[in-house]
Amino acid sequence: MRKVRATVTVIGLGYVGLPLAALCAEKGYRTYGITLEAKKVSMVNKGVSPIANDAELAVSVAKKHIVATRNAKVIRQSDIVLMCVPTPVDKLYNPDLSPVRSAALKISLNLRKGQLIIIESTINPGVCEEVILPILQKGGKVAGRDFFLAHCPERINPGDPTWNVRNIPRVVGGITHRCSRLAAKFYRSILESDIREMKSIKEAEATKIVENSFRDINIAFVNELAKSFDKLGIDVYDVIQGAATKPFAFMAHYPSCGVGGHCIPVDPYYLIERAKQSGFDHRFLRIAREINNSMPAYTVNHLIRQLNKLKMPLSGTSIGVCGISYKAEVSDIRESSSLKIISLLKEFGAKVRTYDPYLLEQSTDKSLIELLRHSDGMIIATNHREFVEMDIRKLRKYGIKVVIDGKNCLDKDGIVRLGMAYKGIGR
Ligand SMILES: NC(=O)c1ccc[n+]([C@@H]2O[C@H](COP(=O)([O-])OP(=O)(O)OC[C@H]3O[C@@H](n4cnc5c(N)ncnc54)[C@H](O)[C@@H]3O)[C@@H](O)[C@H]2O)c1
Repeated sequence: MRKVRATVTVIGLGYVGLPLAALCAEKGYRTYGITLEAKKVSMVNKGVSPIANDAELAVSVAKKHIVATRNAKVIRQSDIVLMCVPTPVDKLYNPDLSPVRSAALKISLNLRKGQLIIIESTINPGVCEEVILPILQKGGKVAGRDFFLAHCPERINPGDPTWNVRNIPRVVGGITHRCSRLAAKFYRSILESDIREMKSIKEAEATKIVENSFRDINIAFVNELAKSFDKLGIDVYDVIQGAATKPFAFMAHYPSCGVGGHCIPVDPYYLIERAKQSGFDHRFLRIAREINNSMPAYTVNHLIRQLNKLKMPLSGTSIGVCGISYKAEVSDIRESSSLKIISLLKEFGAKVRTYDPYLLEQSTDKSLIELLRHSDGMIIATNHREFVEMDIRKLRKYGIKVVIDGKNCLDKDGIVRLGMAYKGIGR
């Protein structure tokens, strides 16, 4: 018999919410999970994880300890409510807080005295107090007195074999000191990692945005170096590896065909927009975003140049794109640079072939060999192991003439020796 603790409801059963719900259930909490998708409800209740390629999560969901539902009334039966809904940007990069507002309303309509509400979604400083709190307090209950509100930004890195939902250190911040203490106590009951209590909820919100902006800026720096070193004829990849031999004050980041996923290319906009409202222009963050957003077009431009040297127009030429997901060994396509590359190639009239071992339904070809057989040129858009470990002799065997290595993960010298044109990003 499982010893049942308090009741937890996780709102949002995605990459963040589902592993969290599974962990809460494993630690003995009676766990509800709210999601908008009927299919997800049915899968989770049947013990099938809707998230592919996460064996530990699959085992956990198979125990059927999470009760999934679309009915927000389960919130009323809960002691702790964890919000894990998306925080995307629209086509013009404006933050879209509608999922957060809608989830906050669900909580507000079912709010009970004594409940602890924790926001895990990534949000800019101010969202908890300016957007979520007024919705929660609509019914007259007061935060810090009648219920407790805290923010604990999620740091999960899907596909990471080392760092996972249970061992990544966390920060928490509450509307009041007590809110923060209660949230920290809850996380200490489920995590094996350190929990740092921040002085305010704003500090906790800012921490996450700073982490992801730090990464975006560093990647933008090396992407800019790649463009510069392409002109200077220096291999940026070798240079970064050289710089990385310095044992202090340097952290290696590598250039690529773009920055994807639901976090790095999205979160900085939340800070940029909120700071703008307070009269501050985050120029540095804006430039980083601009540089990183330019990389898919830069990659396609390399392809056009290499084809030109062979007197081949891009229009009408078959180009195989290896990888659709935004990063290696996952099936998540949100903000994937591969999608931008595919769309640009189509715009230029190329015959586009695609293959992603994690997204076979969305691939035109169902194997790498099939893709190579149908392509004259190829772009590596995702560094899935299958591409990194491919036998490059097959490229020549199947008639590939140009290789654009958007992830700098192939053997450049070997490909050139085999008589094919090769261009990486900055190498
Ligand atoms: N994906 C990551 O690697 C990652 C890592 C750290 C933090 N985050 C942050 O965590 C948050 C969630 O991201 P995700 O990748 O898990 O998203 P996701 O798209 O994978 O899942 C979102 C879930 O929320 C549900 N949902 C959306 N609106 C809802 C509503 N109004 N009411 C109830 N359910 C609703 C959806 O049905 C879905 O189950 C985002 O703020 C993201 O920035 C994501």
